[in-house]
Amino acid sequence: MPSAQPIRRIAINTGGGDAPGLNAVIRAVVVSALNRGWECYGVREGFNGVLFPERYPDGGMVRLNRDRVRGITHLGGTILGTTNKGNPLAYPLRMPDGSVQTVDRTDEIVSYFAKHEIDALISIGGDGSLTIAHALAQKGMRVVGVPKTIDNDLDKTNTTFGFDTAVSFATESIDRLHSTAESHQRVMVIEVMGRYAGWIALHAGISGGAHAILIPEIPFDIESLADKLRERESQGRFYSLVVVAEGAQPIDGQRAIVEPAEIGQAERLGGIGERISRAIGKLTGKETRTVVLGHLLRGGSPTTFDRLAALRFGAAAVRALEEGHSGVMVALHHPNVMYVPLAEVAGRMKAVPLDCDTVQTGRDLGICFGD
Ligand code: F6P
Repeated sequence: MPSAQPIRRIAINTGGGDAPGLNAVIRAVVVSALNRGWECYGVREGFNGVLFPERYPDGGMVRLNRDRVRGITHLGGTILGTTNKGNPLAYPLRMPDGSVQTVDRTDEIVSYFAKHEIDALISIGGDGSLTIAHALAQKGMRVVGVPKTIDNDLDKTNTTFGFDTAVSFATESIDRLHSTAESHQRVMVIEVMGRYAGWIALHAGISGGAHAILIPEIPFDIESLADKLRERESQGRFYSLVVVAEGAQPIDGQRAIVEPAEIGQAERLGGIGERISRAIGKLTGKETRTVVLGHLLRGGSPTTFDRLAALRFGAAAVRALEEGHSGVMVALHHPNVMYVPLAEVAGRMKAVPLDCDTVQTGRDLGICFGD
């Protein structure tokens, strides 16, 4: 039921891993809010500004005026800072006996905003941040979420901002690797981000003309990958490019975990590319090299698509609040931006559907998926 309470002051925060376009959302929110006569504040580093106001000279929130957001649309990162640690729904606290327990700190967030007379929050983030936003909305706060992640693994929106920039960079990187791979007759393995979903690997791999793509949704058989490379060799194609998502998993083995999950922090992945390089070197006798794109995918200026999506999301989030909505996420449903309940987004993940036409396109083009 839309709220009729007028808005005078809103806050905005950015949570989780950064993604190109965050600053564009911030600018669109601030300008759209100021144009309605609202005041706008930015929370420092996820919810840290609220949970630890004493750490910040400005008390954890910064007043956002036009000057603060001028000329930031094209900048990567976030002027507010972000964190993917310390989920306030399960905040890790070390006990005197050395054990770690979790506490729900969302009531502190609600009180902080009430104390500072913040009427509503626009929370920009991925699955984790939007789950927190959903919990805050359930506690009565007026909250609108904005979907962000380079991984594109959020449900109920055609796409998240940040994804297009990451895919564009990965595609350009793959383009550049063709010539060196061919000149040296090598197999190049390109590892990209994508913890649980293989959207970046799939889109960049197909667009960049990769010969094999390994994604978390399709457990791979290293023998079938080796067969593909041998087949290319027998056809006189002495080089190959293999794109692998960091969360790809062999049918008979484990994902490549650098650091296991801890309370309040997801596991850290990395190294599957090098593992695959070594294995296919052994199986095929080919010389191999590994390129890890990693955090390069999160940097740089957002593409036109991401900028526009981010600006549209930011402006739509303000309109949603003005229309009295809460507990919703702005979402791209081509060609429009819609509002979807946060309840339908929180705690869900959008994996690559194995029957989607993009996977089918890859198969039709002869790309090996390792199955
Ligand atoms: O933004 C999501 C993501 O890009 C994942 O694909 C990756 O596993 C993770 O971030 C890495 O985040 P960080 O190194 O910042 O903890």
